[in-house]
Amino acid sequence: MLSSCNSNFEPTAEKQWWKETVFYEIYMPSFKDSNGDGYSDFKGMTNKLDYIESLGVKGIWLTPFFKSPKVDNGYDISDYLQVDETYGNLDDFNTFITEAHKRDIKVIIDIVVNHTSTDHRWFQESRKSKDNPYRDYYIWEDQANNWESFFGGKAWEYDSLTSQCYYHKFAIEMADLNWQNPKVLEEVQDVFRFWLDLGVDGFRLDVINFLTTEGITLDNPMDENGKQKHIYDLDQKGVKQAMKTIKETINEYDNRFIVGEIGSDKIEVLKQYQGKELLDVVFNFNFGSIPEFSAQRLFDELQSMESNMSNYPTLFFGSHDMPRLHSRLAEENPNRAYALAVLMLTAKGVPFIYFGEEIGMKNHIANSFDEIRDVQGVTNYHLAIEEGKTAEEALIIGNKHNRDKSRSPMQWNTDTLAGFSSSKSWIPLNPDYETLNVAIQENDLESMLSKYKQLIALRNSEPALQYGDYEKLSIQDDCIHFIRTYNDEKINVLINFGKPMVFDLPENANILLGTPMLQTDDLLIFILSQTKP
Ligand code: GLC
Repeated sequence: MLSSCNSNFEPTAEKQWWKETVFYEIYMPSFKDSNGDGYSDFKGMTNKLDYIESLGVKGIWLTPFFKSPKVDNGYDISDYLQVDETYGNLDDFNTFITEAHKRDIKVIIDIVVNHTSTDHRWFQESRKSKDNPYRDYYIWEDQANNWESFFGGKAWEYDSLTSQCYYHKFAIEMADLNWQNPKVLEEVQDVFRFWLDLGVDGFRLDVINFLTTEGITLDNPMDENGKQKHIYDLDQKGVKQAMKTIKETINEYDNRFIVGEIGSDKIEVLKQYQGKELLDVVFNFNFGSIPEFSAQRLFDELQSMESNMSNYPTLFFGSHDMPRLHSRLAEENPNRAYALAVLMLTAKGVPFIYFGEEIGMKNHIANSFDEIRDVQGVTNYHLAIEEGKTAEEALIIGNKHNRDKSRSPMQWNTDTLAGFSSSKSWIPLNPDYETLNVAIQENDLESMLSKYKQLIALRNSEPALQYGDYEKLSIQDDCIHFIRTYNDEKINVLINFGKPMVFDLPENANILLGTPMLQTDDLLIFILSQTKP
């Protein structure tokens, strides 16, 4: 069915650097190790800035690098103002930012303010006694309600020291901050200012709609399969006010950007947090985390973003929390992986590439329990064993929840001394690193890497791909077609995931990519630019 849709926002959308930027997510432990301890670090990453520049990306998102016991690889922060020594020190961080800025690359950092590590000084104080000044930084109750952790199991941990339990939405070692306490907000504002003063260009706000702003309320209901429905522990009334204050703090500095992780794949939930006083953009999980490939579903979500979002959506198919694009949606078909990359880099929105996607990295699968590093995989494995499952059954369950799939180290080359040797890296390398790596693809014009570079260059050079509205957004027989227009230019994008087809060239067309012919294979990708009549 062909259908067109009207744009939801003005074509002359306010110019912002982040609307012109292709972002690249670096999962801190896995990118580039410089000292052979098996973890990536700022020195190694600084050495790879030329590579990042060569991709054409103009923004980097760094996952947390703050001091942390790394129960959840840095999402459990024990000191917001220090760099974890595995990654280097503040000087190394400053060098990284300075070198990135020299290359015209902005850097946004991931801040986790829903919870801290239980090693954080605030928590260590808080647990000491009921009248400790830090007690109310966290959520302590005599009686636990039925809320469950998002990593599996109960969300409450009993502490015999004061005979109360504290609330943790994630791991036991990650205690939730009490957002009803104004002091927590003040502390968090100071954390933002500290990093803004050091020159970061913005933030990714981790699980920001999870903040416990109204305290502990009603028990959550259960669904017909006995699974908990997370109703009262998310999206509490005060979340938007907390976001507004965070935004005001960030607005004390010029030209900064915030992207929020809203834990939902429902457009109705996502859209309410985007706005001038709230978040610049949210991660559109309705689009990005589709579990299985369907051209129609991709189209439906694009259209839903177009009619629902008041500003730009985000476009991504991979992250450190989801299986890799190449294995999940492309099902290891490189043509389809490329077509998905075309969609991500030409549709309306802010694209986020996950490291390694540009060389077609695949899922890493743990062969035994010993190979699972992710706390969510480990927790679910243990819960399955406690429920009486066999070790094999528990491994299947653990692997289902295991987010290590996309966390194996970047495949730079075949040199095992480069730091990420299979014996040394914090997580095993994907066994295909000897044939699938940057060094091999850099010299091959037909490689996935070369194709990504070409696409990013196109997006960087065409304002219509950054700011253009949809004049048309349609699908017919699994061929997604859209036209984006901006000032005098129209850009036609055709991505055919279905049967071969012919496309009639419009007049005045200038082919930017692909060939306007009947294809013998089942994929047609075609981008052309037209001058508006
Ligand atoms: C976010 C992060 C994820 C982490 C969780 C808890 O969803 O992306 O990796 O485990 O928050 O902080």
